[in-house]
Amino acid sequence: MTPETQSLTSRALCELAPVIPVLVVKDAGKAEGLATALVAGGLPVLEVTLRTPAALDVIREMAKVPGGHVGAGTVLTPDDAKRAKDAGASFAVSPGATERLVRACEEIGLPLLPGAVTASEVMRAMEYGYSMLKFFPAEAAGGAKSLKALAGPLPQVSFCPTGGVSLGNARDYLSLPNVICVGGSWISPDEDVALGNWDAIETRAREASGLR
Ligand code: 3PG
Repeated sequence: MTPETQSLTSRALCELAPVIPVLVVKDAGKAEGLATALVAGGLPVLEVTLRTPAALDVIREMAKVPGGHVGAGTVLTPDDAKRAKDAGASFAVSPGATERLVRACEEIGLPLLPGAVTASEVMRAMEYGYSMLKFFPAEAAGGAKSLKALAGPLPQVSFCPTGGVSLGNARDYLSLPNVICVGGSWISPDEDVALGNWDAIETRAREASGLR
């Protein structure tokens, strides 16, 4: 698979819904209920961060939920990418982009959404063959104003801003021509996941899926 094909695949995933929930799940026993609620609420693309010991098991469980596309987030190394793919992840998200990581994802055929913020980082990602990027950390890096500025010289690149995005500011991003979707953790707060408050999460997902 060529990088451009992968980029298109990442783009296609980003086009499925206005929000990709960013999930930090500590208990794989919650995976099925959580993914089911999110998909039912209209958010089929799920990013499970590799930040908990349970993350790979969570991916394994969520990958069984019909209608979902489960990816791994916080993918930093070739080994992370391989473990994620082996667990059933159908894409990977990284806060940045290194040549080793990009090439490893190409080799194993795992679509990657690499992160970039500055013009040079975006140009490097373009050299790797990617035109669909994560913009992270979105709010701290200047928010919608920065993304709007990048659209001037780099109109061929699209973004999924993540980091500090919420229901309150998501529309500021989604109204930009170079934003396809946003990522955020607000849809599934820890307490709701711990208590299995799936109705509350589904309601929040529905609200998010209606953002555009
Ligand atoms: C991430 O984990 O990729 C983002 O930092 C999520 O950011 P948020 O918790 O501010 O939505």
